[in-house]
Amino acid sequence: MKTIAVFASGSGSNFEALAAACADGRIDARIGLMVCDRPGAYVNERAARYGVPTFTFRPKDYASKADYEREIVRRLREAGVELICLAGYMRIVSDVLLEAYPERIINIHPSLLPAFKGAHAIADAFAYGVKVFGVTIHYVNGELDGGRILAQRAFPYEGDDVGELEAMVHAVEHPLYVETVARLVAGR
Ligand code: GRF
Repeated sequence: MKTIAVFASGSGSNFEALAAACADGRIDARIGLMVCDRPGAYVNERAARYGVPTFTFRPKDYASKADYEREIVRRLREAGVELICLAGYMRIVSDVLLEAYPERIINIHPSLLPAFKGAHAIADAFAYGVKVFGVTIHYVNGELDGGRILAQRAFPYEGDDVGELEAMVHAVEHPLYVETVARLVAGR
């Protein structure tokens, strides 16, 4: 069975979708480590509930990004992690992690890339007035929301309630992330 890591900074609903799928066998893997850069984030409570080991740190406690990423890599190796799933991790990953896990870091982004890169994709797409929204899962490289696309799913929305839209995006994200990670760990 493979060991994966999930990185998150906030609520962690995608973390929970992956943790639930690992627990009930839809994903043939275990989450060996949840990495979080915000001690107060709700994802920490979710990880505790699933009994997933965590490394939660404060970036400002380190002299540089390279320093805390070296610590993350050390802990990932210790946990035997083979695949990293970013799930709302609000930091750009640098060469330290990319070189330690080449082609083995993936991310979920709440738009149909390459449209609406960045941290406010749902609000940006809504403000632009697009009528088809969606979610992308892609490999992570040095470019913000760049990297080869693994999966995408689109849906129409013509309403005027950004909260409703956000809920729809999450409802698409969770099964798509589970299916994609299941496929990757199965080597498909
Ligand atoms: C998701 O919309 C994901 O696509 C984006 O950040 C959000 C994280 O949500 N990268 P959650 O913390 O998994 O609930």
